Amino acid sequence: MPTILTHPLVKHRVTLMRDINTKPKLFRELVNEITEFLAIESLRNLKTVDVPVTTPVGDTVGAKIGESIVIVPILRAGLGMLDAMLRILPYAKVGVLGMQRNEETAEPIPYCAKVPQAKGDELAIVIDPMLATGGSACDAFSQLKKLGYRRIVFLNLVAAPEGIAKVEKEHPDVPVFTAAKDERLNSSFYIVPGLGDAGDRIFGTLTS
Ligand code: PRP
Ligand code: URA
Repeated sequence: MPTILTHPLVKHRVTLMRDINTKPKLFRELVNEITEFLAIESLRNLKTVDVPVTTPVGDTVGAKIGESIVIVPILRAGLGMLDAMLRILPYAKVGVLGMQRNEETAEPIPYCAKVPQAKGDELAIVIDPMLATGGSACDAFSQLKKLGYRRIVFLNLVAAPEGIAKVEKEHPDVPVFTAAKDERLNSSFYIVPGLGDAGDRIFGTLTS
């Protein structure tokens, strides 16, 4: 089962993000703010190493993040979550996977892949606001596994039950963190109630 954020500050932001009247500037801000909550919740078990630190009052032992991380936005809409991730993990690497759904079948069509080969036990954090059929996310996880990633986590804003089921069946080792689990997909494979086309709302390319 995915971890679904239940914090009232997240629910408030998800509601604003869903609103048809929310314009791209606010939409992008909300995507980033919710992403920060997702990152904090999903990364609570990151390994740390002890480091000495001298305060103005004395010496103590502190902690610093002790693992290597690659953030992987699925283009295009995943880019909307990247600023927030890099604010929280400024030392992380970034790799990108481009995927476009076929409008009739919803099959993902990969068009770009630029992700470094995994080094050791590196953690890959895949980011994409929408988990609809699950095709794009599952394809991304398969590509990352071929590159040697053994630890993958998926951060998402709105998930459909169909997409969650596909990830759980095909990639049960990938934990999913989402800000909302919605009702279903419609006949065009859009999430209901969802928020419409995330990429268009982030990049201001809505045609109607
Ligand atoms: C959207 C979204 C996901 C995908 C989810 O991308 O950002 O990547 O659909 O759907 P799925 O779970 O059925 O695969 P889209 O293909 O519309 O491209 P875009 O991000 O460039 O707008
Ligand atoms: N992609 C989106 O942007 N929205 C959906 O509802 C489904 C896929």
